[in-house]
Amino acid sequence: MTVALAFDIYGTLIDPHGVVDELALHVGERAQEFSDVWREKQLEYSFRRGLMGRYENFPTCTRQALDYSDSLLQTGLDESARDALMQVYRKLPAYEDVPASLQALASAGFRMFGFSNGVADAVSGLLQHARIDQYFEGVVSVDAVATFKPDPAVYRHFIEVAATDADNCWLVSSNAFDVIGAVSAGMKAAWLQRSSSVVFDPWGIDPTRVIHRLDELIQEISI
Ligand code: LAC
Repeated sequence: MTVALAFDIYGTLIDPHGVVDELALHVGERAQEFSDVWREKQLEYSFRRGLMGRYENFPTCTRQALDYSDSLLQTGLDESARDALMQVYRKLPAYEDVPASLQALASAGFRMFGFSNGVADAVSGLLQHARIDQYFEGVVSVDAVATFKPDPAVYRHFIEVAATDADNCWLVSSNAFDVIGAVSAGMKAAWLQRSSSVVFDPWGIDPTRVIHRLDELIQEISI
């Protein structure tokens, strides 16, 4: 059976901090700080909504996290600035190692999916914008099960869509909580440690493989 690769999107293939240039137009020197708070809060909202069973989709988490960040940092963003930032979120860039790595994996014959908290049309739009959509068999969104990573239901959903065994499915993610979620649900997982300063959670649930650039993946997984 051919291995199915489930690529996390935000932070793994697509850079959520690609919004910093637009942020700098509105908040100046505080752009990186704002982007960090925004991303952390976006994920926190997804975790909390999952736990509470109060699902609202990821764009809603993103927009509410934007509003929170503006209040916390007292940056006074008006409605048009908020809309502009949300538009940029739909056109975030891919990391530089992504296109060639995906091409090599696709040529080697791996089945490849986008697998994200994001809604399917937003994720498809990002993949198209980055000109990497042709490598994917499909996009699997948590939206179909109305909860978020790392709820085991979302990994079960992926395995079901891929129509293969759990241990034939590999998550590829830079997000440690996602890797732990996938391994805990019976999948294999490669943790992409994009920066040496990022620490893996010491839960005793380890990644199957650790890589530092996406182009290392092809040496680590056999089809
Ligand atoms: C995603 C989040 C985890 O793309 O960034 O699923």
